[in-house]
Amino acid sequence: MAKVDYTIEGDIAVITVDNPPVNALGQVVRQGLWDAITRFDDDAAAQAAVIIGAGRLFIGGADITEFGKPPVAPFLPDVINRIAAAIKPVVAAIHGTALGGGLEVALGAHYRIATATAKLGLPEVTLGVIPGAGGTQRMPRLVGLEAALGLMTGGKPVSGAQALDMGFVDTLSDGDLRADALAYAAHLVADGAGPRAVTDLPFPGADPDLIATWRQRLTKTAKGQVAPLAVLDAVIAGTTLPFNEALAEERRLFLSMLDTPQRSGLMHAFFAERAVAKVPEIDGVSPRDISRTGVIGGGTMGAGIATAMVLAGLHVTLVERDDAAADKARDTIARNLASAVKRGKLTEAGRDAILSDMLATVVGYDVLSDADLVVEAVFENMDVKTEVFAELDRVCKPGAVLATNTSYLDVDRIAQATKRPADVIGLHFFSPAHVMKLLEIVVADATATDVTATAFALAKRLGKIGVRAGVCDGFIGNRILSHYRTAVDHMVLDGASPYAVDAALVDFGFAMGPYQVSDLAGLDIGYMTRQRKAADAHPRDRSPVFADALYHEGWLGQKTKHGYYIYDADSPKGRPDDAVTAIIDKSRADLGLTPRAFTADEIVRRTMAAMVNEAAWVVDEGIAQRPSDVDVVFLSGYGFPRHRGGPLQYADTVGLESILSDIRAFATTDDHFWTPAPLLERLVADGQTFASLNR
Ligand code: COA
Ligand code: NAD
Repeated sequence: MAKVDYTIEGDIAVITVDNPPVNALGQVVRQGLWDAITRFDDDAAAQAAVIIGAGRLFIGGADITEFGKPPVAPFLPDVINRIAAAIKPVVAAIHGTALGGGLEVALGAHYRIATATAKLGLPEVTLGVIPGAGGTQRMPRLVGLEAALGLMTGGKPVSGAQALDMGFVDTLSDGDLRADALAYAAHLVADGAGPRAVTDLPFPGADPDLIATWRQRLTKTAKGQVAPLAVLDAVIAGTTLPFNEALAEERRLFLSMLDTPQRSGLMHAFFAERAVAKVPEIDGVSPRDISRTGVIGGGTMGAGIATAMVLAGLHVTLVERDDAAADKARDTIARNLASAVKRGKLTEAGRDAILSDMLATVVGYDVLSDADLVVEAVFENMDVKTEVFAELDRVCKPGAVLATNTSYLDVDRIAQATKRPADVIGLHFFSPAHVMKLLEIVVADATATDVTATAFALAKRLGKIGVRAGVCDGFIGNRILSHYRTAVDHMVLDGASPYAVDAALVDFGFAMGPYQVSDLAGLDIGYMTRQRKAADAHPRDRSPVFADALYHEGWLGQKTKHGYYIYDADSPKGRPDDAVTAIIDKSRADLGLTPRAFTADEIVRRTMAAMVNEAAWVVDEGIAQRPSDVDVVFLSGYGFPRHRGGPLQYADTVGLESILSDIRAFATTDDHFWTPAPLLERLVADGQTFASLNR
């Protein structure tokens, strides 16, 4: 079948877009739509046309694999204008999703019918561009400036039912969309309804106050991203120019964004998140069935993991050390569920059913005999973990998946505490576990492939992004993060203020600076990690003695209202503290260091070089399957700015040669920390990029 099919049913032309997997608007589909509308205009047997998508959705959008390549005619804005200019009524029939160019096609049609659950949106800003085929000009005409700006600058889709309320869908189908769309078209013909282009409606008048408010808001929230502000510019063009000129301005803005690093960063993130699920070793391997699960430990992580599981419809038995701890875990989970109710993610009845039927909080392991999967989240201590796994080995049924949420410990050793190491795997959740998207799936030496497949299936069920990691200290994320931490701690030792470091990295686009993160996590966590690693320290490692000093002051961060920052009613988000600066000054003096200045640019270059260098080791050792998997870990687990695509996409953008030459320059004063990774040297020698290794 052609990618766009034309058939006649009664006196209605049915134009079906059939371009799996998402009916993207590649050149062949654009030409097909053009030809179909021309045929419809000429077809005396057809009184109206219905455009519908084959398969599970209407149209997923422009073919984004064509972005960055020279555009080929017919261009989408022209195709959509052609649809709008049809001489008889055209109905768009929407199910599944209509996104980006897909929704713009629907806005070119004269009437729109959708299923109540369809998702309709203009998510272009999430890919670093703006609607480029009339979306910025047609949507405001249908829903007004405020609502259109909300849709286009946020990028979040709405349901068919919401679209009806907002006014850009005319009617809903509550059953068979195809039949309902045909009936709707027949009804329009019977009523003598003619073609009705959206552009016949007036563009809303200019509203300087509203525009000024949006500009201010977007400048603040866009954090260096250009697309949301470009949406605003395109909309302003609509308020002042005739349609054709405003459309040309929209196209100009759209095309100007195709060549930006932001567009390639965001697009890289989109494809990287899909590539991450491709794990050759589990290709064709069936996951084990999971319905009853266990969680060991109900602290910060255990309670969050249990929340994520029950919200995904899994039965959870949570095991704690004593009744008080079990009750506390239940309270935490109940609070998490209450906030899900508040955010509209769960009904009150749903919450009550979970608490009475889906969750047990108990003491003692024997109740886990029927669990299909158990996640251990007890203290980060090898002896405690191996004891727990020996117990699990004793009580769990054969075939149960036994997982550990350890952050750093050796999963191979944990597996050896059982007589069934093939069933053991690491499931490294991030805090808060019911919110954070990332799940590192740590595959140990003996892990069976169907256990790995089960972990990926679980990630999907929990709505998380599973990333395969190999066993090493810290896996992908925490291992690279510890080098990032070391680089910033060295700069503070050498003269940078932690506040300047945070400001430079937030300005780069990180959600939080490293010292703000320390305050959030608790300075005791870093202190314990340093203690644990002290025995293996190299004589040339430089310890952040100022961080130990703050710990000994009892300044543990947000939980004590004092860490690197002071938290009080006046500054709930924290303000710098002279006493901290004095402690850091004293630490430097004790070490005999003469402080020097660091610019924001040097702060960013040093942190990024440290991350990229360690990431190169992680890829070379096979701990991550491919460079883009490292990017996904940092985008979804560590607040790395999405428009930069992740640390390795960023490295490709600035050029590996420049990163390597920075590392060599930094090594002249510290060749212990700054040892170039062999993979980085090889890529530079071959004139290659990290992207060349993405498979
Ligand atoms: N152009 C080209 N390829 C696309 C695409 C697009 N617009 N949207 C999705 N794909 C590809 C994906 O890369 C994936 O390819 P793969 O199987 O080789 O990995 C495949 O189609 C399926 O996509 P996936 O996201 O896994 O399917 P889904 O059913 O979960 O979601 C969508 C479908 C349409 C909701 C989702 O793909 C999406 O959001 N796409 C982008 C839409 C968009 O931003 N459009 C605006 C562009 S103007
Ligand atoms: P926590 O101290 O908050 O909770 C640990 C819980 O385990 C406590 O409630 C304790 O009572 C319980 N426990 C201890 N021994 C037990 C046993 N034998 N049987 C049953 N329960 C027992 O710790 P946490 O922050 O939740 O961390 C748990 C694990 O998750 C650690 O391995 C940690 O490294 C890892 N982790 C933590 C984070 C984080 O941000 N906190 C992130 C990822 C992974």
